[in-house]
Amino acid sequence: MIDDSRRDPTFVSKYGPWVLVSGASEGTGAELATLAAAKGCNVVLVARRLDKLDLLATTLRDQFGVEVVTQSLDLTVADGAAMLQACADGLELGLVIFNAGGDSVGGPFLAKPYSEWRQLLHRNIDMLTEACHRFATAFVAKGRGGIVIIGSEAAFQGTGRLALYSATKGYALNLGESLWRELKPKGVDVLNVLIGATDTPKLRTVFEKNNLSPDAVPLTLAEDVARVALEHLGEGPTVVLNALDDDDNPMLSRRLRRERVVYHSEFLNHFYGPE
Ligand SMILES: NC(=O)c1ccc[n+]([C@@H]2O[C@H](COP(=O)([O-])OP(=O)(O)OC[C@H]3O[C@@H](n4cnc5c(N)ncnc54)[C@H](OP(=O)(O)O)[C@@H]3O)[C@@H](O)[C@H]2O)c1
Repeated sequence: MIDDSRRDPTFVSKYGPWVLVSGASEGTGAELATLAAAKGCNVVLVARRLDKLDLLATTLRDQFGVEVVTQSLDLTVADGAAMLQACADGLELGLVIFNAGGDSVGGPFLAKPYSEWRQLLHRNIDMLTEACHRFATAFVAKGRGGIVIIGSEAAFQGTGRLALYSATKGYALNLGESLWRELKPKGVDVLNVLIGATDTPKLRTVFEKNNLSPDAVPLTLAEDVARVALEHLGEGPTVVLNALDDDDNPMLSRRLRRERVVYHSEFLNHFYGPE
């Protein structure tokens, strides 16, 4: 029987009828796709492992009666952004969720050849930026849409053994906040969702590889990431999942971060004239 208990026609008319999720084969990406489907959106599922995407697609069709498209794609390839956009060719897309971003990120800077780091930089910076440009262009043309960037608290500071990952997440944070300012008046919502250690299959493999117990660290649930992301989609530019109620800390508070973005954007009027 179709579960329509979480249907949300308002969400679908604002951000549907199709939602694309990158990195949808497991963890937070799968939960984001599931919640979007539960709300009544059709979903495009993208990741490298097609078998996992197809399994999820069957569940979502059966459970929520929505349409699902799956596409295997490695986002580290040179034309990853164009290929990601092509996954939704011919579909009326209203929301894109950039979730893939945590694979092969750890280790000392000098422990890997630069060619390996370059793949991380390409997926988390070049691909993300070009894809934002492509999807935002289409959303602005129709005057509505949304972009969610799943980020990390690693964005707030440099971190030994996570140098390039934290750098890319810092980049994504500033990119998303800037785009929030530029696109909001054009009807497009942008939201950075910054999360801490989260219970995903990927993180579990890290614990296993290093013979460490996941119990030593408090882990956020993947479904909580999905819930917070879609609940706060219109309240950008940034939500820090572990500090939802923090209204005073300039780094963490939703309100204070928004005020800083607005202040600095308006300050540019002195150089560029009125926006
Ligand atoms: N888990 C945490 O503790 C944590 C903490 C802070 C932030 N985050 C952020 O949360 C997001 C999800 O993290 P995660 O732990 O689930 O790890 P992840 O490695 O980003 O995996 C998430 C999904 O991305 C896909 N993916 C990874 N690399 C890809 C690529 N090159 N091309 C296409 N798809 C790719 C994976 O599927 P395939 O393997 O099938 O491609 C999987 O479905 C990331 O943006 C990460 O930075 C996670």
